[in-house]
Amino acid sequence: MQENPKNPQSAHIPRTPGTPGTPETPGVHRIPEIVDLGAYGPDFTADPYPYYAKLRAERPVHRAQLPEGQEAWLVVGHEAARAALSDPRLVKNWRTAGLVNSADDSPLFTNMLDSDPPHHTRLRKLVAREFTSRRVEALRPRVQQITDELLDTMLAAPGGRAELVDALAFPLPMTVICELIGVPSMDRDSFRAWSREIIAPTGPEAINEATQAMAGYLIGLIEHKRSAPGDDLLSALIRTSDEDGDRLSGDELVGMAFLLLVAGHETTVSLISNGVRALLQHPAQLAALRADRSLLDNAVEEMLRYDGPVETATWRFTVEPVEIGGTVIPARNPVWVVLASASRDPERFAAADDFDITRDPRGHVAFGHGIHFCIGAPLARLEARIAIGALLDRCPDLALDCATDDLTWRTGMLIRGTEQLPVRWTAKPRS
Ligand code: HEM
Repeated sequence: MQENPKNPQSAHIPRTPGTPGTPETPGVHRIPEIVDLGAYGPDFTADPYPYYAKLRAERPVHRAQLPEGQEAWLVVGHEAARAALSDPRLVKNWRTAGLVNSADDSPLFTNMLDSDPPHHTRLRKLVAREFTSRRVEALRPRVQQITDELLDTMLAAPGGRAELVDALAFPLPMTVICELIGVPSMDRDSFRAWSREIIAPTGPEAINEATQAMAGYLIGLIEHKRSAPGDDLLSALIRTSDEDGDRLSGDELVGMAFLLLVAGHETTVSLISNGVRALLQHPAQLAALRADRSLLDNAVEEMLRYDGPVETATWRFTVEPVEIGGTVIPARNPVWVVLASASRDPERFAAADDFDITRDPRGHVAFGHGIHFCIGAPLARLEARIAIGALLDRCPDLALDCATDDLTWRTGMLIRGTEQLPVRWTAKPRS
């Protein structure tokens, strides 16, 4: 298996791990056969759920070869996933794990999602207060305004047709997180391109270029904000971390900005587009939501459970042999917790493959679990509720404008979603 220490990891970003080590606990636990996910082909990307169901029915933990060629342990059962995500013997810092000979010293990856306590605790505490439900609620009017403006533009398009990712699902979270952190609007296109490359690399050179360009850009932005602070989170972070005597190093500031910016938009794009697609593909559920709009919050929660944006959590590494779901994962091995599979586990959710906006979807793991539970969950929920609510209000007969088979899927097993979502409407949209 190829080791590529230059391939980075951060929020929702996989890093290529080293080869799984030799099991250190011989005996009762047979090493499972390797499941070759690459052999599943493109159907697996479009609809991985039947494949995960089969794996889950066999056992909750598997050894797998990923489509990109690396080997890892896959955790597919709900209970096993929660156990793995809260087990301190599964660490995030690849350097601590001693797994990878790290040549990757990009400051982008000096961030909380790549850290373990006590470092993680310190970094998370510095921004946690910015993302509480109360603080995020204050953003509601601005999120609504951005949504309304985007929908005004979209609905003015001739012919009653639009591509929803470009028109709404991408620009909404991108604008919100950039305004929050303080990224000027003129830089957002470059930012999008680097972010896409880092999340789903197209080749070693391209990812190195994107990593360097992103780091260089953020270093420049932080320098600028030090001399000319604005009314934004990055300026506040520079100021308060200095005042608290808990000064963030330059690398830590870059890592924090990178993590929040990338995690803050890549995922929410797919929550909105996967959620709208689920509704349009389930007309009875769409009708139920139109008939009773008080179901909206629960419907968004069901969208997260049924087809959430993060298919697998980011890499974790065992520092010692760890038994999960009856399988011993040897020390210094990479582990991938498959959130998409855990949230469809029939042992946890009845009729788990049904999209049902009236069910109780609590307990899904779309935002992870344990100390790395998504800090941006309140913001993501707010954006999705406003975007999907406004879309339904203003497009009474919204429909999918292509066959399901024509949709193209984002590559990689990290972010799940389609590249585009063509939609159409015939009735005069409400303004
Ligand atoms: C629907 C949208 C979102 C989903 C499904 C999602 C999902 C997740 C998941 C699964 C994790 C844990 C990853 C792991 O344990 O390996 C995570 C962590 C994180 N997310 Fe999100 N996320 C979303 C939106 C956001 C937003 C809007 C922000 C922006 C503030 C954000 C910031 C973060 C951060 C900073 C972490 C790392 C937390 C830590 O390490 O303690 N996310 N997210």
